[in-house]
Amino acid sequence: MTQSRESGNRLARTFPTARPAGCPFDPPAPFAEAREECPVTPLQYPDGHVGRLVTGLQSARAVLGDTRFSSLPAGKRSPVKVPGSELSTDALPAGMFVNMDPPDHTRYRRLLSKHFTIRRVRELRPRIQEMTDRLLDEMEGKGGPVDLVEAFAKPLPTLVTSELLGLPEEDRAQFGHHVDVLFSLSSSGEEMQQSMVLLGGMLHALIDAARKDPGQDILGRLTVETDLTDEELLGITIVLLIAGLETTTNMLALGTYALLRHPEQLAALRADWSLMDDAVEELLRYLSVVQIGPIRVAAEDFAFEGQSIRKGEVVTVSLPAANRDPSAFEDPDVFDIRRGTSRHLAFGSGPHQCMGHHLARLELSIGYESLLRRFPGLELAVPVDEVGTREMMVTYGVLGLPVRW
Ligand code: HEM
Repeated sequence: MTQSRESGNRLARTFPTARPAGCPFDPPAPFAEAREECPVTPLQYPDGHVGRLVTGLQSARAVLGDTRFSSLPAGKRSPVKVPGSELSTDALPAGMFVNMDPPDHTRYRRLLSKHFTIRRVRELRPRIQEMTDRLLDEMEGKGGPVDLVEAFAKPLPTLVTSELLGLPEEDRAQFGHHVDVLFSLSSSGEEMQQSMVLLGGMLHALIDAARKDPGQDILGRLTVETDLTDEELLGITIVLLIAGLETTTNMLALGTYALLRHPEQLAALRADWSLMDDAVEELLRYLSVVQIGPIRVAAEDFAFEGQSIRKGEVVTVSLPAANRDPSAFEDPDVFDIRRGTSRHLAFGSGPHQCMGHHLARLELSIGYESLLRRFPGLELAVPVDEVGTREMMVTYGVLGLPVRW
């Protein structure tokens, strides 16, 4: 991490993205140095703005729970240039509640959260299992080696989310393509804007269809039970797609990679499947795939943990750093599926805490267990140094994961 502009009596760092050589699961090393200095340190953004970096678990929870740190887009910037950071927020539809503060945020959240309760999510178990088994049948039919990302980790969350929204089968591939473009490192700002427009068109058609013939899916229910406008429904749908796909895909693939790289942990899990829920929690903590942000902007001047925060300062929370905080987790860099704690921040915290966390946990536990049971001899089909990672992207993961069995 380079140190540059002065902020108060500390030097402002730039946001590190490079993972330590040979340790693809560990956060960039400079985060630990920053945390040792102070859990909230000055951070320099690409345009020269100096704000804060949060690396301690307790401070991260405090920032995310304090609405003086606003989620509104005004003044927000990414600490590194990532795909999508040049997207104009003017083009975004109403209803994208992830970029809102209370009371607007609360209103949308209330309308949606009943579709993501643990009870509602449990009802989806048989369908998710069915979709998982179908994908594994296809993968087995191909005979390996296959890229686990393309064959399994991408399609499973796409199918689940499409089903939740009532997206017709024939539109799912095209829809997956636009989401890919929006998150790809190689897409230009123009391509992203174009995919955003085309995705918008597909979703408008879906909303029209839901109004004419509302089904039991989320969009169908929202058209019947609420007075949300088409534009608001569009914004909500985009949030669900963006929030639910990349994250779960990367957890499925990177999680499988982590298990393959820790054979003693994998053997323990194979010997006792009742460890699966704990394994999912530990994978969420250890991998913390949301690696850039959450990002907030101070809405006023105030004192926070003994520091003076000025209105307009941009604050970036590092979830991978917070989840390796040694004051919160014993031996935080050790991957231990018997750790038995869900006190991590992989899903964020506070009013914007991940709304899909029950669903994500269910997809992950069904996904990992079904995959590992189906292929008792699952292994990497390439040397580890050929597995590329997504360092410069909001969501960390593997670029591909060739496997055989
Ligand atoms: C392992 C998978 C997932 C991870 C690691 C994850 C992580 C996160 C994190 C860290 C946030 C907080 C963002 C912030 O504070 O600004 C968040 C928000 C959100 N997530 Fe997830 N997520 C996952 C899966 C899902 C799924 C499957 C869905 C639903 C289909 C979903 C829906 C949402 C929504 C709607 C928000 C915004 C909540 C709000 O602003 O009130 N997520 N997620």
